Amino acid sequence: MPERIAIVLAAGEGTRMASNTPKVLHRIGGRTLLAHVLGSVRGAGIGRTAVVLGPGRDDVAVEVRRAAPDAEVFVQHERRGTAHAVLAARPAIERGGDVLVVYGDTPLLRSETLRGLVEAVEDSAVAVLGFRPADPTGYGRLIVQGGALVAIREERDASSEEKKIDLCNAGAMALSGKHALALLDRVQDDNAKREFYLTDVVALARADKLKSVVREATEEEVMGVNDKPQLAAAEATLQHRLREQAMKAGATLVAPETVHFAADTKLARDVVVEPYVVFGPGVVVEEGAVIRSFSHLEGAHVGAGASVGPYARLRPGTKLGPKARIGNFVETKAAEIGAGAKANHLTYLGDTTVGPNANIGAGTITCNYDGVDKYRTEIGEGAFIGSNSALVAPVKIGDGAYVASGSVITGNVPPNALGVGRARQVNKEGWANDFRAHKGKQGTGGHD
Ligand code: UD1
Ligand code: MG
Repeated sequence: MPERIAIVLAAGEGTRMASNTPKVLHRIGGRTLLAHVLGSVRGAGIGRTAVVLGPGRDDVAVEVRRAAPDAEVFVQHERRGTAHAVLAARPAIERGGDVLVVYGDTPLLRSETLRGLVEAVEDSAVAVLGFRPADPTGYGRLIVQGGALVAIREERDASSEEKKIDLCNAGAMALSGKHALALLDRVQDDNAKREFYLTDVVALARADKLKSVVREATEEEVMGVNDKPQLAAAEATLQHRLREQAMKAGATLVAPETVHFAADTKLARDVVVEPYVVFGPGVVVEEGAVIRSFSHLEGAHVGAGASVGPYARLRPGTKLGPKARIGNFVETKAAEIGAGAKANHLTYLGDTTVGPNANIGAGTITCNYDGVDKYRTEIGEGAFIGSNSALVAPVKIGDGAYVASGSVITGNVPPNALGVGRARQVNKEGWANDFRAHKGKQGTGGHD
């Protein structure tokens, strides 16, 4: 049997997003709407994917290649309706295999739902995903007679009786590979919008005595994104799902509604996340680690039993070893922090390797950038960096070495040595009294 194909429609661009970014490139959970849909399709076990774009949408094509490198891209040169858009992928349909059509702006569709829909065309010609919205206005109505789906009527073409139907077309549809092209090719544009409606295949199938069925989903799952408030609503639903998923996998979220996830955030068992934490894309947190309040993590791997925050910022390329500690007002970027190493306060570690059990004092800064290039700082195992030190990269601090507080370190410090890079302190006896006498007045805190 030929492989199934999913056709993702992303050619019709509304203007309601009020944005210079194409709708399907807007993000929820740090991932584009299109990537969410491509992910759901992949999860449904559909072998091939085609994406239909509007003309000149190179930016969307780039995102397709990134999110689904195997997907084929087709262009719908004129916006003439959903059936017309599906037929832009004709070469892909011609290879046979059941067809699943989904819209690129419905990011919350679950893979299981899509799988159920394509499986339904094993013994019917068409399967339509239906839902019962709180307000059906604007949706195509599913006309069911004697238990059979006989037609879909678009809002503009519906009679006042038909408008009362609350079962609506969610937008996802499966077509049996045996009948798909024959049905699609017969769709006409004889309707109020003068568009080729995909939804007409139901009545066409009926005329051929072929069966169409409905699978129902929740309104929440099928919601489409057309404007910024809907984008925010989709984000809220996704966040709710991600929180539930994290907690079911064994993470403790002290105040779940205050934690913001990326779609790919991975928290292991017994991770504790305190209130008000933001996870950007690419974060993995291993067992038993604690992420304390007001921390922001992105592209970071947090080792087992490590502790982050409060008020920490982990930027991409951060790798914390087991039991490492990153405390308040510490920023890390492209930094590998060894097991048990600590940077507890007010520090920037960029392009840095820190050995196991090293201690980075408060106010340590790796000076990694000269305005043009970036350089690495290497800090050895068990090294101790005194507070308020500037480590001017490229530079190496050897295993077990000390750096004196307040140093500006521009040269390597050998293992087990002390690096001092500051002016020596000088005390001038009686200087303050001389000073005050010279000024002709006595300071309040002074001694005679
Ligand atoms: C469509 C359905 C309607 C359903 C509703 C659910 C049809 C005829 N109607 O209506 O029954 O209730 O979705 O949201 O299918 N597109 C293209 N090229 C086109 C036209 C559309 O790629 O020429 C894409 C759009 O990018 C979008 C999708 O198809 O992803 C749906 O198009 P849209 O214009 O939003 O259809 P609706 O009128 O909402
Ligand atoms: Mg729509």
